[in-house]
Amino acid sequence: MANVTVIGAQWGDEGKGKLVDWLSNRADVVVRFQGGHNAGHTLVVGDQVYKLSLLPSGVVQGKLSIIGNGVVVDPWHLLKEIGTLGEQGVKITPDLLVLADNACLILPLHRDLDQAREAAATNKIGTTGRGIGPAYEDKVGRRAIRVADLADRAALEAKIDRLLAHHTPLRRGLGLPEYDGAALLAELEEMAPKILPFARPAWLMLDEVVKAGRRVLFEGAQGALLDVDHGTYPYVTSSNTVAGQAAAGSGLGPKGPGYVLGIVKAYTTRVGEGPFPTELKDEVGQHLGTVGREFGTVTGRSRRCGWFDAALVRQSVALNGIAGVALTKLDVLDGLPKLKICTGYELNGEAIGYLPAGLKAQGQLMPVYEEMDGWSETTQGARSWKDLPANAVKYVRRIEELIGAPVSLLSTSPQRDDTILMRDPFQD
Ligand code: GDP
Ligand code: IMO
Ligand code: MG
Repeated sequence: MANVTVIGAQWGDEGKGKLVDWLSNRADVVVRFQGGHNAGHTLVVGDQVYKLSLLPSGVVQGKLSIIGNGVVVDPWHLLKEIGTLGEQGVKITPDLLVLADNACLILPLHRDLDQAREAAATNKIGTTGRGIGPAYEDKVGRRAIRVADLADRAALEAKIDRLLAHHTPLRRGLGLPEYDGAALLAELEEMAPKILPFARPAWLMLDEVVKAGRRVLFEGAQGALLDVDHGTYPYVTSSNTVAGQAAAGSGLGPKGPGYVLGIVKAYTTRVGEGPFPTELKDEVGQHLGTVGREFGTVTGRSRRCGWFDAALVRQSVALNGIAGVALTKLDVLDGLPKLKICTGYELNGEAIGYLPAGLKAQGQLMPVYEEMDGWSETTQGARSWKDLPANAVKYVRRIEELIGAPVSLLSTSPQRDDTILMRDPFQD
C-alpha cells in the first residue's frame, strides 16, 4: 500500500511524533490534517530533542511537509517553531514546508476566549488554552480568516469586521477588553509576508504527488478518544482526530489515507479532565508517570496514568480502521511485578465491552481486569523481538488478541532507532 496514516489510538501522547519521524524516511511527503498547536510531538535523535506542535514530524528528516486545510494554524506560533527548529539545525524553507492556502487561522482573540472560558467554567475541559476550540467554531461558523485572505487586504478588513461582530459581545460577557480591529489588521499585515511564501493549494500538490506514485505519510494529532464525535464528549478536542479525517483534512480522496497505523501506549494516559476508567491514583500510577516522564509537552501538566485499557483500544481499532499498531513505552512497565489489562467494563452490574456515549455512564464504568505477571529484565532500548523477556512477549500477544489488531512496530525508548519493525506498514 502506498500511503500510511498514523493516528493516536487513546487520549493522545502515545508517541506519534517518534513513529512519524522514524517512518518518514520511507515516505516522500508528511502531512498534518487536523488539530493545531495543541499537539506536542517529541522526537529524540541522539542528544537532540525536537518538540513539534504544528510542523509535521517529517521536517526533521528533510521530507516535504504539508500543513493541510484541516489544521487550525496560529501563524505567529508557526513562525516561532520554524525559528526554534532553525536554531537546532533544521532549516525550513518553502521548498520543505507547504501551508494549505485554505487552512483557517488561530488569532489572539481565540486564545483569549479559550482561556477566559476555562477560567470562568465550573466544569473545566482542561484545554491547552491555545485557542483551538474557538478557532474551529469560527471555521464552521463561516467567519474565519484563512491563509489566502492574508494576501487580500480588502477581504481581510471586511473579515475582521465580521469576526468582531461575533467576538465583541462574547468578550464583553467574559469581562475581556474590547478587541481593536485596526490593531489586528496591522498585526496580520506585518506577519503576512513571512507566512505567504509557504501558502499553496495543498490538495493540488498532493494530487500530483500521488499521481507520480509517491508515498504519503499522514500524521494525526491528539487521539481517537479526544475526537469531537467519537471521544469522551465534551471532554474532547474540537476536531475529528480519527483516520478518516486524513482525507478531508488534506484534500486527498477517501483512498488517500491507505494503511492506518494506530499508535498505542502500553498503558493509558490522559491530560486534562474527563472520564478515565482505568486511572490509577495510587503508587503504581505515580510510578508510570515518573518512569514514563508523563508531563505534557505543551502545558507541562502531569498526565493522569492508568492500566492498559483493551476495550478502549478495541473501540479505537474499529473507529479508525486500524490495520496494525505501533506499541510504545513497553519499557516503562519494566520491573512491575504484576500488570493488569482492562478487558471490558461493568455498568450497573451488567457487562459492557465499549465506552458508551453518555458521560454519566462513562463515569460509572467499573473496569474488569485480567492480571498477568510482569518481567524483571529490561526492555529499554531493545532493537529485536528476540531480546524481549518471555513475559513481555506474552503481554504484547495478549494485547493483540484483545484489541483485534497486530502489533507491527514496537518502541522501546524515546530514541528514534530504539524501534522494532515486525511488518512494514508501507509494504502491507
Ligand atoms: P505524541 O503526542 O503522540 O507525539 O507523544 P508525545 O511526544 O507527546 O509523548 C510521548 C513521550 O514518550 C515523548 O516524550 C517521547 O519521547 C516518549 N517516548 C516515545 N516512545 C517511547 C518509548 O517507547 N519509551 C519511552 N520510555 N518513551 C517513549
Ligand atoms: P498530541 O498530538 C493529549 C487535550 C487537552 C484537553 C482536550 C481539549 O500531543 O497527542 P484543546 O486545547 O484541544 O481544546 O483541549 O484535549 N489535548 C491533548 N491531550 N495530547 C494532545 O495532543 C492533546 N491535544 C489536546 O488536554 O483535555
Ligand atoms: Mg503529545
